[in-house]
Parts: sequence; structure tokens; C-alpha cells
Amino acid sequence: MRTLEQILSLRTYVRGIRETRQGGKLIGFVPTMGALHEGHLSLIRKAKADCDVVIASIFVNPTQFGPKEDLAAYPRTFARDQQLCMEEGVDALFAPTVEEVYPSGFQTVVTVPEIAKTLEGEIRPGHFAGVATVVLKLLNIVLPDRLYLGQKDFQQALVVDRMMQDLNHPAELSLVPTVRAADGLALSSRNAYLSAGERRSATVLYGALQAARAVVEAGEMSAEVALEAMNQVITNEPLARPDYICIVNPATLNPVERVDEAASLAVLAVRIGTTRLIDNAILIPPGSATTRLRFMWP
Ligand code: PAF
Repeated sequence: MRTLEQILSLRTYVRGIRETRQGGKLIGFVPTMGALHEGHLSLIRKAKADCDVVIASIFVNPTQFGPKEDLAAYPRTFARDQQLCMEEGVDALFAPTVEEVYPSGFQTVVTVPEIAKTLEGEIRPGHFAGVATVVLKLLNIVLPDRLYLGQKDFQQALVVDRMMQDLNHPAELSLVPTVRAADGLALSSRNAYLSAGERRSATVLYGALQAARAVVEAGEMSAEVALEAMNQVITNEPLARPDYICIVNPATLNPVERVDEAASLAVLAVRIGTTRLIDNAILIPPGSATTRLRFMWP
């Protein structure tokens, strides 16, 4: 595996692949901020299964952190991450410095105003502009055929999908299901911040999603009833402070009143101590022929 820090070296590497490839070999790209866990590895494995060449990136992107967020404390485990990428068969790892990505004079920002204005975007102003901008830069540098993102950051995937559609980026987005610990907690680099007690409490996010699923699977179509079930699970955990708990249309992120027409998305952000966790689940009414989003798994 090659580890490349400079945009020019990465471009030369990609040009080499394009020039020597025969019969339309695919390049898959997995962007990350490092602190890799099984969730990231599942993206890499999916890219390996689908594509001939896999490029991953590790870049803790400062522009997607707010002034009071955890940029300085964000876990950085580069040597271990590099080893994991090698073991998973990543062909090239792009690990640029902040100066390489944002040289002096940099000023262009990509915004996706509608999808980014709610949920995470409302609580973390500027976050999705940082994400959309860096993902577009990375796409322009790597020029992949496929981009792999995880379902846990559903709104991020929606923002990136909209940006790619609107700006006619030719890569195809593939959303990979969330990987969970045995007790249901969605894997996240931020789980590393949880104390043992907080880690136990953190399972309430999954518990709330399961409660919503149970309500819908029992044939209840009112989003309010499903929401009430989610709220109850969170309220029963003293360490949990919700930022939002919603049931929304997965294409627009607008709240829905009923879950009977197509798939809906239960989505929540909850603070456990000082750690902010997010999770989501698609709710599918029994017998429903669900409308799936273009970039979701078959
Ligand atoms: O999901 C992440 O790790 C980041 O938001 C991403 C997509 C790598 C952009 O910095």
C-alpha cells in the first residue's frame, strides 16, 4: 500500500491507474477522518468487493468542526489506521496535511442549504458546508468511480448526494449499512470518549430506534406514537440528553406525520455526558413496498 501526502503524488498515482487499466477497472474511494473502526472497515470491504482499486483518505477536516467542538481532542491513531488499511488491502492511502488541503488563499465553500438546514445542520452551523467542501475537493483529487459513505451519518450522505447531483459529479455514491456493537451501539470514533458507565447508557440510542421499529412493525402508522416510544426510552436513561428525536422523510428530512406511504427515517442525536452521539434507522411498515433512495443498498 502506498501512503501519499501530496495532492500531486495522488494525482500521479491515479493517472497511472487510469492509463494502465484495461476494460474499465473501477476505483472506489473511502474518505475518513481516521480513528478507524469496524464501520470504516466495512466501507473498505464493500469498496474492495465492488472495485478493482481502493483509495482511502485520512484527514481530520478542520472546517467541519465548530469553534466549540472537539477538533483538538478528535482521536488521532494514524499508525494503527495505516496498518488496518494495509491489512484490508487498500491500494493507496491519502493522508494530506491541513496546509495541503487548505493552502493560504483558500476561500471557496460549497453549501447545500436545504438539506443542511435541519437536524445536525441546525445544531452544528457550518458543519455540512465543511463536509461538502472537503468531500468535493477529495473527489476532485481522487477522481473515483464510486464513493462509499456510512448510513450512520445519513444526513451527511444526503448532503453529499445532493452536492454531487447538483454539481454533476460523475462518481456514484454507495451508502453502506451501519455497523453496530453486540449491544446495538452504532460504531463511531466518538465512542472512545465514553466512560464505562456512559458506554452502557449509550445503548439507549439503539433502544429508542428499536422501540420505534417495534411500534411500526405492530402496524401503528402514527409517527407521533413511534416518537413517543423513542422519547420514553431516552427519558428513562438519566445520563441521556437529546438534541433531537425525529421521524422524517429520508429524501427531504422533513418531519412526517404517518409512516404508511414509504420508508421513513427515525433519527436522533443524544448527549451522553459530554459526548454527542447520532444514529438512525429506516422504518418500514409491514407489507410496504418501500421507496428506497437512489444511493441506498438494494
Ligand atoms: O464522515 C466522515 O468521516 C467525514 O465527515 C468525511 C466524510 C470523511 C469528510 O471529512
